Amino acid sequence: MTAKRKIRCGIIGCGLMGREFAVAAARWSALLDLQVQPEIVAICDLNEGLFDWYRSNFSSIKTVTTNYQDLLSQKDIEIIYCSLPHNLHEKVYIDIIQAGKHLLGEKPFGIDLSANQRILDTIQKHPGIFVRCSSEFPFYPGAHEIHKFILKNPWGRIIEVNAGFLHSSDINFEKAINWKRMIKINGEYGCMGDLGMHVLHLPIRAGWIPGKVFASLSKIVKQRPDGKGKVVPCETWDNASICCEVEHPAEKYTFPMTLKTYRIAPGEIDTWYIEILGTNFNARYSTKYPKTLQTLEYKNGGKQEWRNEDLGYASVYKTITGGIFEFGFGDAILQMWAAFLDEFNHRDKEIPFRCVTPQETALQHQILTAALTSGKTGEVAAVTKK
Ligand SMILES: NC(=O)c1ccc[n+]([C@@H]2O[C@H](COP(=O)([O-])OP(=O)(O)OC[C@H]3O[C@@H](n4cnc5c(N)ncnc54)[C@H](O)[C@@H]3O)[C@@H](O)[C@H]2O)c1
Repeated sequence: MTAKRKIRCGIIGCGLMGREFAVAAARWSALLDLQVQPEIVAICDLNEGLFDWYRSNFSSIKTVTTNYQDLLSQKDIEIIYCSLPHNLHEKVYIDIIQAGKHLLGEKPFGIDLSANQRILDTIQKHPGIFVRCSSEFPFYPGAHEIHKFILKNPWGRIIEVNAGFLHSSDINFEKAINWKRMIKINGEYGCMGDLGMHVLHLPIRAGWIPGKVFASLSKIVKQRPDGKGKVVPCETWDNASICCEVEHPAEKYTFPMTLKTYRIAPGEIDTWYIEILGTNFNARYSTKYPKTLQTLEYKNGGKQEWRNEDLGYASVYKTITGGIFEFGFGDAILQMWAAFLDEFNHRDKEIPFRCVTPQETALQHQILTAALTSGKTGEVAAVTKK
């Protein structure tokens, strides 16, 4: 077996998602057939309380700092994973790219459309720098099967597409406010900026870009405890239901698509789903039933029967894990990182499913900006494509 090339990585933002990447790197030996391997050598966060966990689990870490410029000035760091609050994406992603580091950034990839545009302008000026955005749910086996259907196009005429992300982490009105509920840090999109890239990843990849949208946006919780004894305004949108009209990219008829991004969805802990209904073929997958892919094939006059298939651990990148075992969130993160590093290592190779590209983050922003306008005006809004 030939040794894998080690790729020296730094993490900026060591919170919830920073730790998920660190654990994926620690589990890298589970992956077979990859020629590269991440090695975490440097971390940065303002919260020094996070450092002990990293230090005690990763002897490869040599630099621990509260100033991210310390990572950018180190010549031997190749890749940065940046998982910071949304108000910092523009400045820090631009600094990373200008420092010549490759980047896996987090969604929404800029707090708003104009911040995203400035990040993309910088990427354009640095064509040698490899940049992608994180979105792991399409790496679940069921979601990957849906992507394979999208490539084969078995639908007949598409009747409708429904995609969403439902969770209930804010259903407890007594939960203290955090940055994700503050407009100046999370952005005006609110729940759409948190969850929209996950929901749009497959539709955008399929070329199902809405021409116009109507959004109903809800602010359900108007104030929250601040964790220090006071109650403060909670300003962000909690839930968004977006009705889209999509022109089929090849066949030019239009079909409806619904997108839901809910932070208050009773009974849902963390459910990502997609459903495509067509005259010949239908498919749906939800992480609520993570093993199960549902399909329905229809021929005129025939029966209409949904078929449930247990997929097991049918990951995109082969692992040591037995095919009968369960697949979960940590596996999706590992698979997403495998795709990122595989594409990084072979820029011109066709890989089975690539991470979100910068251009796809721009489409996400164009759609969410139209949804925000629609939600605020109560009118249908056109999606302005650049
Ligand atoms: N892909 C996913 O499934 C997923 C899930 C959750 C969050 N996210 C995204 O990841 C990003 C981070 O979210 P999170 O949930 O990890 O947040 P978090 O609050 O857990 O972590 C963010 C970290 O950034 C640090 N930080 C803030 N300002 C800093 C600065 N100037 N320099 C260095 N560190 C700084 C904070 O101390 C904190 O530890 C966001 O873009 C969010 O949308 C993605």
